[in-house]
Amino acid sequence: MLEVSLSGVRFKNPFLLASGVLGITPGLLKRAERSGAGGVVTKTITLEPRRGHVNPVLVELDVGMLNSMGLPNPGVEYFMDVITRARELLEVPLIASIGPSSVEEAEKLSTNVVKGGADMIELNASCPHVERHGLEILSDRKLISEIIGKVKDSVPGTPLLVKVSAMTDDICSLASTILDAGADGIVAINTIRAMAIDIHSQKPILGGVYGGLSGPALKPIAVRCIYEIYEEFPGSTIVGVGGIKSWEDAVEFFLAGASAVQVGTGIAYRGLEIFRELTEGIEKYLAHRGYKSIGEIVGLAHS
Ligand code: DHB
Repeated sequence: MLEVSLSGVRFKNPFLLASGVLGITPGLLKRAERSGAGGVVTKTITLEPRRGHVNPVLVELDVGMLNSMGLPNPGVEYFMDVITRARELLEVPLIASIGPSSVEEAEKLSTNVVKGGADMIELNASCPHVERHGLEILSDRKLISEIIGKVKDSVPGTPLLVKVSAMTDDICSLASTILDAGADGIVAINTIRAMAIDIHSQKPILGGVYGGLSGPALKPIAVRCIYEIYEEFPGSTIVGVGGIKSWEDAVEFFLAGASAVQVGTGIAYRGLEIFRELTEGIEKYLAHRGYKSIGEIVGLAHS
């Protein structure tokens, strides 16, 4: 009932662990699977190791969370081994999130993560606060097209999803560029650039000054982006992410046009049990309304 296929990769359920949350070691990825995740996405991997931003890197707000990790990761050479060990441990598909800053880096990153055993690639072209690894790439239409083309040429058998930001004036024209360039689908949306100021020190709180806003504040923006993309490109592969913390939230994403969804900040609120809550909730919703598969409700808000 909950099985989905994204560009030929099969998932036992449409609830995936989002990038940046727990996707750092094979053991943590396995914990997400044991908790019921239908697939997992790694922390974004860059070519060279990155230390990340100085503390503090996380602020809890009443509308969500603000983080400015600065893409800390051990670099692709080390991460290949993590992917290989995770691939051996896991039964669910493993999606490698890559964060290139150039076409050349995209080629090296994609070749290596696939050599390591990744089943799918998510291109993080939308980190809101790390120079050269995020929004600059997405806003340069020529560069993003070249990167997508290079990844598809380098690893032709591996589906490629591109993670977008809502921080664009026309999400549909962005989606059109991405799909025309050969990407297999879109992940919508990444965190939104935001900040918080400490009224006592009278200075920005985050070490990196700016951070990415995640959690409940993002949900209506994500639903709107998915709806807009699906309206223009019905039937396209869209993976939704942004503020899901209940099965009812997830249903909205499916109705808007998402074929699968990812959960990140929701884990901080509900714990890893969220995956079982989502699965059980949606199964009841579908059964109660007489649907036989999750695919039957994808995009229904449009008809
Ligand atoms: C980071 C990267 C992201 O893409 C994001 O949305 C939030 C944080 C980071 O590692 O800093």
